[in-house]
Amino acid sequence: MAKITNDIINEIRSKTDIVDVVSKYVNLVKKGKNYFGICPFHDDNHPSMSVSYEKQIYTCFSCGATGNVFTFVSEYEHISFIEAVILLGEKLGYNFDNGVRKVETNQEEYKIYELALKYYQNNLHSSLGKNAIKYLEDRKIDRKTIKKFGIGLSLSKSGLSQVLISKKVKLEKLIDLGLSNSLGNDLFLNRIMFPLFDLSGRVVAFSGRIYNIKDSSKYINTKETDIFKKGNMLYNYHNAHEHLKKNDYVLVMEGFMDVIRADTIGITNCVATMGTAFTKQQAMIIKKMTNNVILCFDGDKAGEEATISAIDMLEKINVIPKIIRLEDNMDPDDYIIKKGKDAFLNKINKAISVVDFKMQLLKREKNLTDTKELASYIDETIKELIKIEDDILIELTLKKLASEYNIEYDTLKNKYNTYKTNKVSYQDKVIEIKNNKNNVYEKAERSLIFYMLKSSDVIDEVEHKVTYFPSANIRNLSNEIICFYHKYGVLELADFITYLSDKTELIKVLYEIINMNLMEEYSKQEIEDYIMVIKNYAKNVKIKHLEEELRKEVEPLKQADILKEILSIRGVR
Ligand code: UTP
Ligand code: MN
Repeated sequence: MAKITNDIINEIRSKTDIVDVVSKYVNLVKKGKNYFGICPFHDDNHPSMSVSYEKQIYTCFSCGATGNVFTFVSEYEHISFIEAVILLGEKLGYNFDNGVRKVETNQEEYKIYELALKYYQNNLHSSLGKNAIKYLEDRKIDRKTIKKFGIGLSLSKSGLSQVLISKKVKLEKLIDLGLSNSLGNDLFLNRIMFPLFDLSGRVVAFSGRIYNIKDSSKYINTKETDIFKKGNMLYNYHNAHEHLKKNDYVLVMEGFMDVIRADTIGITNCVATMGTAFTKQQAMIIKKMTNNVILCFDGDKAGEEATISAIDMLEKINVIPKIIRLEDNMDPDDYIIKKGKDAFLNKINKAISVVDFKMQLLKREKNLTDTKELASYIDETIKELIKIEDDILIELTLKKLASEYNIEYDTLKNKYNTYKTNKVSYQDKVIEIKNNKNNVYEKAERSLIFYMLKSSDVIDEVEHKVTYFPSANIRNLSNEIICFYHKYGVLELADFITYLSDKTELIKVLYEIINMNLMEEYSKQEIEDYIMVIKNYAKNVKIKHLEEELRKEVEPLKQADILKEILSIRGVR
């Protein structure tokens, strides 16, 4: 299959209007030159996202999301960049099915996993699956659930590899995909197989559980592959996502058995992190689902720690979850089996706030009859309150503290106010430091890139006059702009974003530069000044380096050489 070339991608982009496409997803209102709407990539009810017809890009002033029409569709639909190209191309009448233009990424990999799924499912329902079915039945997992979650079985003898190889799949592929070893035998043997689905509901990995033998690892998961990154997915996302329309909250659990158990009692809006490591990407996926999140990790110490770190991660992106803690070290699966559906629903209804959860933790750690410890407990609780924006919850908590420990409400409120003002000034300081760091060289580098994106004259100037950009990212970005310009003869920003699509670090810098507050117009003098600043900076870097060498050098003759070089760079002969 041939690759979709950048030329075709740019062709599709130039025939597609970003305003048209975005307005299918988001209500846009025209104000001046641009269109504005509510950004779908973060929680908001203000129109912080602007879409430029002229530049064919979008930018959110609040969360910083920026990109062209393909990145918008890919982010919104949870599909890859190239899938977004295909989707929009097909709308224009491009046919990717026959011949050269067809590229659907990783189609073979998905097919192989589809076949593996069928193979494992067949095993479970064959005569060799009797013990495994018995195990599942003992765990109160019925046929309907087995089917819904695609549960299967790997046998005690290798078989999948042979089946796939007979279907002309190359052994290297099976090794890459984490299904076979180098001898061509199956990696999963004798385990109950849980397929793991990506956000679009495709099988991309398996987790196998022991059921009839002793083994040191309870679950074995597929290694990370091109199509499976554990930290980028949530178990059961594709099902839970559907059910959010009915119940606008999501329950986050640790294990897939927990999610499957909840499903058996009709609670379908659950996802699992698959272990206690909760990643930033998982937090982002959850935020896109809903802002109403309930954390329901295992009742043990590890689950408590996972809860604390998940809270941190979610609070950073402005999601304030509610918390369920289960007693006696139970996980949701144990709890539902032991206490039943109503008891678990009751737990959901009584999920506590982050502040209450943290207060419980603090209380447990401290001896509150000791005055000093009590004071520190109250102090830390107030610090927790600073993070939240719910005025009623803040007031209720302060009142509760006041009456429980016989302290004047005003004293607590004053303390709260002091911390609140300190927090603001702390944030101001951070911004100040950031601005200082944005020193004159950085400003010059970034301004040059900004104007390179606007004018081919500036590209020429930079190409011929700037020999070296001090910062690596800017250097690379400048090189990419120059290459792109030589290749296409013009620099269309929206196409340049496509060109950089797999260089995330550079895209980040590019977005920062696009969003700089600079005048659209520039003068020739300004550009020359920026180039001068950069040349001087590069000189200073070189001199610093030589001075360092000079300090280390002990031989007088060599010292003289270095000195001479320094003077010549300084322009003194
Ligand atoms: P748990 O150890 O809590 O398993 O791990 P569980 O959900 O209670 O499973 P059962 O009830 O014993 O069958 C929680 C999650 O951590 C991951 C799995 O995703 C599991 O669902 N895990 C656990 C592993 O990846 N490997 C392991 O060896 C254990
Ligand atoms: Mn369990």
